[in-house]
Amino acid sequence: MVINADRFSRDSLHHHSLQVILDHQQPQGGYLACPHMPDYHFSWFRDGAFIAYALTLEGVGSAIPHRAGIAGQWDSALKFHQWCANVIRARGDALERTIARVERGEPVEVGDTLNARYSDDGMAGPSDWPEFQLDGPALWLWSLAKYVEVCRMLPLPVDWEAAIELTVRYLSAVWRMPCYDCWEERGSDVHISTLAAIYAGLNAAERLLPRLKLESVRAEIRQFIFTQGLTPSGELAKSVGKDMVDANLLMAALPEHGLLTPDDPLMQRTLARIEADLLAEGHGVHRHLDDTYYGGGAWVLLGLWLAWHKARCGDADRARELVAWAEAHADAQGNLPEQVKDAMLAPSYYDGWVALRGEIAQPLLWTHAKYLIVQYALRQA
Ligand code: BGC
Repeated sequence: MVINADRFSRDSLHHHSLQVILDHQQPQGGYLACPHMPDYHFSWFRDGAFIAYALTLEGVGSAIPHRAGIAGQWDSALKFHQWCANVIRARGDALERTIARVERGEPVEVGDTLNARYSDDGMAGPSDWPEFQLDGPALWLWSLAKYVEVCRMLPLPVDWEAAIELTVRYLSAVWRMPCYDCWEERGSDVHISTLAAIYAGLNAAERLLPRLKLESVRAEIRQFIFTQGLTPSGELAKSVGKDMVDANLLMAALPEHGLLTPDDPLMQRTLARIEADLLAEGHGVHRHLDDTYYGGGAWVLLGLWLAWHKARCGDADRARELVAWAEAHADAQGNLPEQVKDAMLAPSYYDGWVALRGEIAQPLLWTHAKYLIVQYALRQA
């Protein structure tokens, strides 16, 4: 890991982040998660939702204009949203079968659900991946609503409407089911961050298509979280029945009508435990205390997510400290990684993952997106 705070000024890292994202968008609109890791040579709904969100915000009075210009950034986000709509609609029959099975009280077939990742041509990746993840399509709805609002793209294209409705019906049918979380782990648990993403996604869908009446399903999700999704000490729990937090619970305070506002006492209690349990020395953030992936290092995108949260809470100084730590972990080209080896929780696992997948993903497009999002939030602070 090259620590390169001097060579990369904030402006050039900002510019490089845009460039990395635009360079690795695929012809049909998907974004590669990471161009250098074969397992990440796919587009995830989740990563892409945050990337498109970053480009949408960046298009609003960007401090450092990129040569692609605002139009280029918004065009990239538009292509991603179109790609998602296409991928989802192409699976319409399978998703309808899933919805019908849930209505009949029958078990769901994983082959009839949405995968977490697809290649740019819409094909599913190899089947050895923990694909059943519900936060991704929900985050797509959340990101799409921001795009439509900022770019005033109404009326919506007919095929987008169809994809939104299908996604809403699918999520409304399956939200109670255990699934893999946003880290692609623990598929037999019900994860609170996933439910929070679904809540935000349904909220967004209602703003996109006011004829959808989703108040009752959203109320059920809230009720479920507040009765079954808390730790004994009253924080949001990583998953139902676990006395543990996960940094992915920052998902509960997504802007644009997420589950909780950043200053909600429940969010503040949850954040306090995340900071107590998961803040790594030097300001990176671990995912959760049981993390062994690449030794369970500090995640750069989580340090930036925490910075985003702090900026939204009005603590710009703390946000800048967290950002400075992330900036110091750009490599000589300005590429930001997924995680760093600083303060690994389980160092003995590191070599095994390198042997299996290669070096830690870098650049990770989702990390660069978080960097852009925080820069935007700091400009508003
Ligand atoms: C992470 C996911 C991410 C994927 C692609 C996985 O290792 O846990 O959150 O979506 O990589 O970046």
